[in-house]
Amino acid sequence: MKAAGIDVISFAAGEPDFNTPDPICQAAIDAIGSGFTKYTPTTGIGELKAAIVEKLRRQGLTYEPGQIVVSCGAKHSLFNALWVILEPGDEVIVFAPFWATYADQIRLCGGVPVVVETRAENGFIPRLEDLKAKVGMRTKAILLNSPCNPTGAVFPRSVLKEIATVAIRHDLWIVSDEIYERLCYDEPHTSIASLGREVQDRTVLINGVSKTYSMTGWRIGYMAAPAEVTKAVSCFQDQVTSNPTSFAQKGAVVALTLPDESVEPMRREFQERRDLALDELEKIPGLVLPQPQGAFYVLFGVEAYLGRQFKTDPELAEYLLEQACVALIPGSAFEGPGFLRLSYTASKANIVRGIERIADALKRLE
Ligand SMILES: Cc1ncc(COP(=O)(O)O)c(C=O)c1O
Repeated sequence: MKAAGIDVISFAAGEPDFNTPDPICQAAIDAIGSGFTKYTPTTGIGELKAAIVEKLRRQGLTYEPGQIVVSCGAKHSLFNALWVILEPGDEVIVFAPFWATYADQIRLCGGVPVVVETRAENGFIPRLEDLKAKVGMRTKAILLNSPCNPTGAVFPRSVLKEIATVAIRHDLWIVSDEIYERLCYDEPHTSIASLGREVQDRTVLINGVSKTYSMTGWRIGYMAAPAEVTKAVSCFQDQVTSNPTSFAQKGAVVALTLPDESVEPMRREFQERRDLALDELEKIPGLVLPQPQGAFYVLFGVEAYLGRQFKTDPELAEYLLEQACVALIPGSAFEGPGFLRLSYTASKANIVRGIERIADALKRLE
């Protein structure tokens, strides 16, 4: 539609609409200029692993460089983790709505995703009884994502403790995707690995530079995990991709050593946009609107507009695209039927304009 000259407002993107900060770009340019364009050690250059260890230390987490593997994005790190952990038929608990990649990667690794539903009325925070009900003989791991894509939920420390207790009791791995850790608006992020040695020893922490530093195209992610995991991942990655891109790693070193304040303006801007998006969405009658506390997504319920003309959220999303020229992702893509995901990686002006268009189009359905 855009190619045909139509003014589409997109709330679909899963990446920040900011440029990668200049010093990071310059470091990669300098690396290319100095010929740093060859293979590196499979698991990443020492300098980058040291920067990751230091970043985790600032969070109160102690890791050795041998417990770090740098890969081609957090998505790659996650796949590596699932590949080495899972045997055919092993079950992995995932909290729905969840990032669609999880279930597909679990299946690709021979595992079985087992879904624990969370509810909008609880702010999409999981309940202990729902988790306990899904743990069985074949459960191998619990996969969590806080702050969460697509719900924006940030799991409180008390809930992380409950999840950790279940994992310890049933001897499960915890795979914790913390890629949105720096985008929290109400309460700070807690890494589940920081809850104690016993928890850290069963946790594969997944993170990267994509979202925090607006580096999605650089493809640098990492895991921090017990050495038995990182050793296996190192062998596996060695045969599949070898090292992540040499000069992108140099950029990531600079990213991870930038002062915290350097990414604060982006976080603040996202917080203002979240508040604006919520204010605008609140004006639309009938929406279910839990307040997201992190990442850059609002997942809102549209059941009130389903049933007559449109039966499902994908149909409604298509209607909004075609009739309102607004792109949203249907919640069904995240195992969240009846919801739509709005990504506020758009300008404030477009947030207001786009939500006005949604409001007008929904009004026509009433
Ligand atoms: C929850 C979650 N984890 C991981 C990723 C991927 O991160 P990367 O670009 O580092 O592979 C995304 C990207 O959308 C995501 O939403």
